Amino acid sequence: MSARLDQPILSVQGLTTALARSHATVLEDISFTIAPGEVVGVVGESGSGKSMLALSLMGLLPSAVRRTAGRIVLDGDELTSGSADHWRETRGRDLAMIFQEPMTALNPVMRVGHQVVEVLRRRRGFSGYEARKEALNLLRLVEIPSPEKRISAYPYELSGGMRQRVMIAIALAADPKVLIADEPTTALDVTVQAQILDLLRKLRRERGLSLLFITHDLGVIAEIADRVMVLYAGRMAEIAPVRRIFDTPQHPYTQALLASIPDMKGPRGRLVTIDGAVPAIGSMLEACRFSPRCPYRHEICERERPPLGLVSGDQAAACFRPFGYERPIEAVS
Ligand SMILES: Nc1ncnc2c1ncn2[C@@H]1O[C@H](COP(=O)(O)OP(=O)(O)OP(=O)(O)O)[C@@H](O)[C@H]1O
Ligand SMILES: [Mg+2]
Repeated sequence: MSARLDQPILSVQGLTTALARSHATVLEDISFTIAPGEVVGVVGESGSGKSMLALSLMGLLPSAVRRTAGRIVLDGDELTSGSADHWRETRGRDLAMIFQEPMTALNPVMRVGHQVVEVLRRRRGFSGYEARKEALNLLRLVEIPSPEKRISAYPYELSGGMRQRVMIAIALAADPKVLIADEPTTALDVTVQAQILDLLRKLRRERGLSLLFITHDLGVIAEIADRVMVLYAGRMAEIAPVRRIFDTPQHPYTQALLASIPDMKGPRGRLVTIDGAVPAIGSMLEACRFSPRCPYRHEICERERPPLGLVSGDQAAACFRPFGYERPIEAVS
């Protein structure tokens, strides 16, 4: 199931965002790539910056938050160098996003089929008849039963799981190169959640879909991601293939997240079982932000920012501990 070692489809380098007024950083120095057909999971507690990362990539940051540094390159096209129009055009076509609560993203007064048709016409130039045919194909692809009937339903007439399938169909209608999913299964019950994960896995297998999959749930990460980025207080704590995250986690925060899973098969709660809380924006340490909660805290941790150091070929952690509390060589991503 490993991804091809092609050129990355998405490359993010040094992405930093800050509050426009206070200049407090929200995301700091985020760097990673997604290979074609790869699923990169993003995990972290509430407030760690997962949604801000998704919105930064979409060029949809709230007005209070600005990108202050960093490059975002999508399939060789640098989104951060062109105009806002260029970004808007690209994100409509090549980047698509699905959200936690489809009801807020769907138009409540428009039939779901029409919402798929709209994207097909606007983004891909389909004519009315072709667009309807393709919309039906897409509803079928996302496994909506009796799509001929459901195509004329309004969002409120569908269950949560069906609405999320419609959202995925709308996202796919633009034929995106990368799909960003921000907690797409959190609002769903466990059975429906498993079905949506199955669907995303199928799309990845059959259409080579590249995914950035955001969740606070490590159980979900285990089921879908090839690689995992762990975010803490707006910084990358660790990035590694999913197996390494579970088998040999290097950052104490990753270890704490894993320890906080009560039972991987049990009910999935928020990650709140680690003592302490993510620091609020504006009160962030320049040094290691996890150090106040870290059982392995060392003097250097309170003085210096740990760079993202390469622990092994494909695993990097922003922690001094794996390096004997020496400053590691920074990983180039
Ligand atoms: N509209 C906004 N304006 C200013 N700051 C914001 C805004 N939305 C979020 N933030 C701040 O940005 C930081 C990161 O928030 P973000 O929503 O990305 O977290 P998250 O990891 O997605 O959390 P959750 O798991 O709850 O969805 C938080 O400190 C939050 O307070
Ligand atoms: Mg969020």
